[in-house]
Amino acid sequence: MIIAIDGPAATGKSTTAKGVAQQLGFIYLDTGAMYRCVTLAVLKEGVDIKNSDQLNDLLSKIDIDIKMEDGSYEIFLNSEDVSAEIRSPEVTRNVSAVSAVKEVRQAMVRHQRLIASKTDCVMEGRDIGTVVFPNAEFKFFLIADSYVRAERRRKDLQAIGEEKSIEELEEDIKRRDEYDSSREISPLKKAEDAIVIDTTYLSIDEQVSRIIEIINMKQ
Ligand code: CDP
Repeated sequence: MIIAIDGPAATGKSTTAKGVAQQLGFIYLDTGAMYRCVTLAVLKEGVDIKNSDQLNDLLSKIDIDIKMEDGSYEIFLNSEDVSAEIRSPEVTRNVSAVSAVKEVRQAMVRHQRLIASKTDCVMEGRDIGTVVFPNAEFKFFLIADSYVRAERRRKDLQAIGEEKSIEELEEDIKRRDEYDSSREISPLKKAEDAIVIDTTYLSIDEQVSRIIEIINMKQ
């Protein structure tokens, strides 16, 4: 079974998806982390994303691995733990442009489908219910007020020792959403049959239980 959770930046998709997966005993896949890994590799190797030879060469060399152990979730890029590095402001600034490139999307979607072909999965991203798994059994689309999202993102960043103002973060979030929604390939968009959940006034526990209730009700 596939449960797709999509939505704009910092709406609580990751924490919610993780909680839902834990309660159902499914695996959890954060597809944004995969695009962040590619972005980190692009920045490290100085690859020009408009040069498809360079980009394909990089994509053929990178190996993204996700390890879930004792409730922790770690992302490895060519065997190096990059869980914190992929959340840096520099990666965040560049991730939308890298994610909009056809070659990158094709490679990541292939990887995502392969992972989900083996197991029940809660998959979180921007295009899961529309493109990656249009036939997913359950589709949710999370939204939240942009100020609240900026506050949440500020806390995430503080946890990795980065300090940014709410205003700056709200701007970043709006810019990224605009870019993600208006790109040509797989734009951020609610699937017609997705259930919308506004997380502005919800706690993580409430978000998770709302989704679990809907799943139980429909099964
Ligand atoms: O955690 P946050 O909401 O900031 O974003 P993320 O889920 O880590 O995703 C980072 C970026 O990756 C997004 O802004 C999109 O540009 C891209 N992305 C995508 O294009 N497709 C996905 N399925 C997931 C993420």
